Amino acid sequence: MKTLKLVFLLAVSLAGPGSCKHEKEQPADRKMQIFIDDLIRKMTAEEKAGQLSLFTSDWTSTGPSIRNDYIDLIREGKTGGIFNAYTVDFVRSLQKTAVEETRLHIPMLFGFDDIHGHRTIFPVPLAQACTWDTTLIEKVERITAIEATAEGLNWTFAPMVDLARDPRWGRVMEGAGEDTWLGSLIAAARVKGFQGKSLSDSNSVLACVKHFAAYGAPQAGRDYYTVDISDRSLNEWYLPPYRAAVNAGAGSVMTSFNEIAGVPSTSNRWLLTDLLRRNWNFTGFVVTDYGSINELIPHGVAADQEDAAEMSVNAGVDMDMQGSAFLSWLPALVKEGKVSEETLNNAVRRVLEAKYRLGLFDDPYKYCNNKRESEDIMRPEFIAFAREVAAKSCVLLKNDKNTLPLSKAVKTIAVIGPLSDSRADMLGAWAGAGSADSCVTLVEGIRNKTGLSVDILTERGCNITDEEYDGIDRAVAAARQADFVILALGESSSMSGEAASRTDIGLPGMQMKLAEAVIKTGKPTAVVLFNGRPLAIPGLDEISPAILETWFGGTEAGNGIADVLFGDINPSGKLTMTFPLNVGQVPLFYNVKNTGRPINPENPHEKYKSNYLDSPNTPLFPFGYGLSYTTFQYSDIKLTKQSYRHGENIIASADITNTGDRDGEEIVQLYVHDIVGDVTRPVKELKAFKKVMIKKGQTITVAFTVAPEELAYYHQDMSFSYDPGDFEIFIGTNSENVKKASFKIEE
Ligand code: NOJ
Repeated sequence: MKTLKLVFLLAVSLAGPGSCKHEKEQPADRKMQIFIDDLIRKMTAEEKAGQLSLFTSDWTSTGPSIRNDYIDLIREGKTGGIFNAYTVDFVRSLQKTAVEETRLHIPMLFGFDDIHGHRTIFPVPLAQACTWDTTLIEKVERITAIEATAEGLNWTFAPMVDLARDPRWGRVMEGAGEDTWLGSLIAAARVKGFQGKSLSDSNSVLACVKHFAAYGAPQAGRDYYTVDISDRSLNEWYLPPYRAAVNAGAGSVMTSFNEIAGVPSTSNRWLLTDLLRRNWNFTGFVVTDYGSINELIPHGVAADQEDAAEMSVNAGVDMDMQGSAFLSWLPALVKEGKVSEETLNNAVRRVLEAKYRLGLFDDPYKYCNNKRESEDIMRPEFIAFAREVAAKSCVLLKNDKNTLPLSKAVKTIAVIGPLSDSRADMLGAWAGAGSADSCVTLVEGIRNKTGLSVDILTERGCNITDEEYDGIDRAVAAARQADFVILALGESSSMSGEAASRTDIGLPGMQMKLAEAVIKTGKPTAVVLFNGRPLAIPGLDEISPAILETWFGGTEAGNGIADVLFGDINPSGKLTMTFPLNVGQVPLFYNVKNTGRPINPENPHEKYKSNYLDSPNTPLFPFGYGLSYTTFQYSDIKLTKQSYRHGENIIASADITNTGDRDGEEIVQLYVHDIVGDVTRPVKELKAFKKVMIKKGQTITVAFTVAPEELAYYHQDMSFSYDPGDFEIFIGTNSENVKKASFKIEE
């Protein structure tokens, strides 16, 4: 048994790993403080409450309420920012009202949900995560920031870094998937991409990390529902991506709608002040989600709006999105002594600092540049990159007998299914200012690729959801005429995203019937899936020779998918969220605990074991899974030592051979298992990966250095440290298909 006496305490707090930032004050900061102090001195309590309020324009609505009087509110100094307003002329006119018509001429923030692109729409974030390529993801956000700022915006409500393990929840499409370690890397990359080299650059946007915290863990996957998780799970799994984003310098944080263990995030002092500000040293400002101060009333922790405003500002909220609670109540609350002058001023200071850092006090119109607007939107290189990302986000789930790639010699292709030619469904939810008109559908992508040399027959077959439309006979007839069939199936864009939870995560409507009928023709067929969440599709997997997961690929979806279908790009994406066999298994994720009665793999239905009567425990496709048009063979793991001293790096490697007939990229994954812990440890945890190009026939050695701190976890006393003792280490092509070795950390 492992000795627990010797616990290597790391200098980290209860809140988890990561470095604290105690930066020395710079002269520029001093100048800013003097400027802001002076401004705050001049402000009335009403003007301060105005700076702490944020309202949507009426251009578009991203929540249940809207106020049509937002221009009056700006004129009266009652809002510090506007969201859902973009384009240079519109933003300029609103900013002009703030700067020229209010007493103190304070410029406004302009926020927007640029979740996977602004005008050039990239694949949904979950799809991007499947590239496991943080450089690529950072570049996506850089382009997003360039386009957003070219249209007047200076603040994006992204990245969304909520860890999610339940595919019923519609918002899984906005995040990086189920792994905290990978999610943290991606969170940091996104912040860096948005904020660029300096926030003062005119093409940088202020990032907003959301939704703090644990919004991705609602019970039963139902949006806005209760979150009730242990401190350990919260600290170990859910919090690290937010912290990584904060450490990467994110300028703002958005509170989540949910409660955690009975306390809604928006009134959670421990979360917003003790943890975020004191422990993590977050110096930006905290904005609520849409009306979530007011939602403290239905949550049942505030009696009325006044109460809700008091609780949230005292908990650490700086800005009220769309709720009017701060606007209506903060001045009175200060007068009554329920909110201190200091609390109010600190909140105002943080919002003004963000404006200052963005350079808005120097030039309120710095993002209102018509030349940039005409030059920096959907530039050819952005579109080309969107195509590359769409292709690299694809995950090849099945490919029997090398059904894919399609031969270019094929003469007739039938493209069948409700998603084959649907522009709007290429975008995915939260598509910024993207337009369906500029999207390339699958049929168009194939046509662009093949030109006139190939006949393309298209049939919708059925609709996405309803049971009515019956075009199946025509679809079968088209399949019979073709040499190759592509079946475009899945969800509509609106079936994932906010307020889009599902209890049935199979293929909706008549699509399975369509697939059965078409595949029965015996024609070589590949299914191309469009969806914003893992789907439970064991039946489809059973009958389809090939399945390519393409998610929602954005503006260039069709072209990117065609690049993969015809083999111009060899697929390399790997799932960052488990695909269950059935919805009854969820939440299902790879880094599970073993339990005291682990399933017996030799006899999976053995009584008195942790299993189901009617389903295996295993998923359809595990975390980290994804095929290539080539094949890779892994050697056994080599470790530099069997036993490592305390503090010593663990160095492990494997030889990987490309045994197929084309070059390909492989995402080599390393997992660790701490066999005996102070508390139970997951059977596997991702601790490293490398994405490598391996030429056909080539063998390369992939070596990993794992710092022992990576093995730290929260002990019973919530100290964060790693233990001496025995570990298993795994290297492989996905979380299940791995080679295993063992090592020891000495006491
Ligand atoms: C509600 C969503 O939860 C949040 O993600 C979004 O940023 C705001 N609405 C603003 O649109």
